[in-house]
Amino acid sequence: MRRLTRRDFIRASALGMGAVVVSSGLTGCGGSSSNRNSDNGNERLVAFHHGVASGDPQTQGVILWTRVTPEDGDTSPVSVSWEVASDADFTQLVNEDSTEVRQAYDYTLKVDVQGLEPGKTYYYRFHAAGVTSPVGVTRTLPEGSVDQVTFAVLSCSNYPAGFFHVYAEAAKEAQLDAVLHLGDYLYEYATDGYDGDQAEQMGRALPENNDLEMIQLVDYRRRYALYRTDPDLQALHAKAPFIAVWDDHEIANDAWMEGAENHDSTEGDYLLRKQYALQAYFEWMPIRPFDDNDREIIYRSFHYGDLVSLHMLDTRIIGRDEQLSYTDYLTDTGLDAEAFTAAVTDPNRHLLGTTQLNWLSEALATSSATWQVLGQQVLMGRMLMPAEMLQGLLAPAPELVTLIEELTTLKGRYLQGDPTLTEEEIARITTVLPYNLDAWDGYMAEREVLLQTAKQLGKNLVVLAGDTHNAWASHLTIDGGEGKQSVGVELATASVSSPGLEYYLQLPTEAIPQAEQAITLLVDDLQYLNASQRGYLRVTFTAEETRADWRFVSTVKSSDYQVDEARGHSMTVQAGSPALTQAD
Ligand SMILES: [Fe+2]
Repeated sequence: MRRLTRRDFIRASALGMGAVVVSSGLTGCGGSSSNRNSDNGNERLVAFHHGVASGDPQTQGVILWTRVTPEDGDTSPVSVSWEVASDADFTQLVNEDSTEVRQAYDYTLKVDVQGLEPGKTYYYRFHAAGVTSPVGVTRTLPEGSVDQVTFAVLSCSNYPAGFFHVYAEAAKEAQLDAVLHLGDYLYEYATDGYDGDQAEQMGRALPENNDLEMIQLVDYRRRYALYRTDPDLQALHAKAPFIAVWDDHEIANDAWMEGAENHDSTEGDYLLRKQYALQAYFEWMPIRPFDDNDREIIYRSFHYGDLVSLHMLDTRIIGRDEQLSYTDYLTDTGLDAEAFTAAVTDPNRHLLGTTQLNWLSEALATSSATWQVLGQQVLMGRMLMPAEMLQGLLAPAPELVTLIEELTTLKGRYLQGDPTLTEEEIARITTVLPYNLDAWDGYMAEREVLLQTAKQLGKNLVVLAGDTHNAWASHLTIDGGEGKQSVGVELATASVSSPGLEYYLQLPTEAIPQAEQAITLLVDDLQYLNASQRGYLRVTFTAEETRADWRFVSTVKSSDYQVDEARGHSMTVQAGSPALTQAD
């Protein structure tokens, strides 16, 4: 008999991975809820501690999610029924049925409800052993001519780092077609691993049975369960369907195809750890597998009639080559610029990978929607900073502030065409390097192919990004025949609770606005930056324009907070003209 190889094992786990998705195409009311109050006659004690959720809407369907917690110590399956109605009082039922949830899937349930109508709001809830879940609201995709589409865009929620006020505020939005979660839905670290110093006093320390780094399946499952007890996150899930993609921390920091910065051999086999992480993701997130035979594939499209085609991408798991590191190109005389440039522009270097890139090119080519929107993780804009400033980022704050002042003065003179600038001064601001090699800046050739494709197809391209914990807006440029040319825009959301540049640079609060303005001036394609606040991005599409509204909260370190109206920021982009303009 052939011994099972590791490959066999991985394949077997991949096939068995994730929650069972129960399909339900029933319409009308069947009254099949006889098991509602008991399991085969045995009374069960259960609770819905983790709320409800919906996701991956289609024109006639949507994924509904819940998790049942057996509270009687009985590990046998639990019967659960669900109801979907077109009214909040559940008098107009359009779908109901029941199934069982099992320990093998961590008692999570995903129902793929079909037979719904396009562009409609639905209400849903679950029942188990006489207990009823909270009610969730969801929306199907519209068809045909669509006037307006609104998304809330969020990323990077670290439970021990702060309260989820940002989720609470997004849940108060009057009209959301969907919530786009761009990843880092949770973090793999131990309590003290990442900005967790105040976790204890905020009552947000990780529980004892889950306070170490997530490595095994049970660790990932317990971390999702903890996050889902948060009332603000529950409120947002109950408010609108999520369209989610993972970033690195759903697995481990700076993940790529075959490894991650935060994984070493003492933590076991990376591929096995990744399978555990993805299994828990599919169990706990309201996501529909794109390909039933390969649940590592999560890139997929959502079409909002003739207005928006939303293409969700995976820049982590499926095709990313390992990140470059500046330290590999340092010589005794400084950076070996030639070798570094050759590596970072290598056409064989991939972020999406060839298969996903081909899929995306085809998706862009075949969609006639006004706006082509990419929902993805890492910054696509060219974040090229003066090399001197990159080195200066490591300097103490006062020196950094002085350096920033010097460089911005020079850049201002340069932009005004000051003839008295010396060659040396010009070199100080035109010798630039990407600041983050984990972003698209570390994969320049593939970015060029993508942006050239969008240009050739003549599409209105709006790229959404998370990952950095700061709010940014950039022009996406290519080197056209006559200099740089903008072919799209990037709108990046701040984080829900993970710390931003202010934490890394240790800048005093009063120096932050100046640093934000300076970085915006020094980085050519950058049009806006908020480097110090937690928040979310609301994006509204109409036939004429895309409008971005960044909203921030005053703090995530205390349960008291306000929306910081003064620092909210809005920009617009007109269809047919890929340029960002400040809006009121
Ligand atoms: Fe993050």
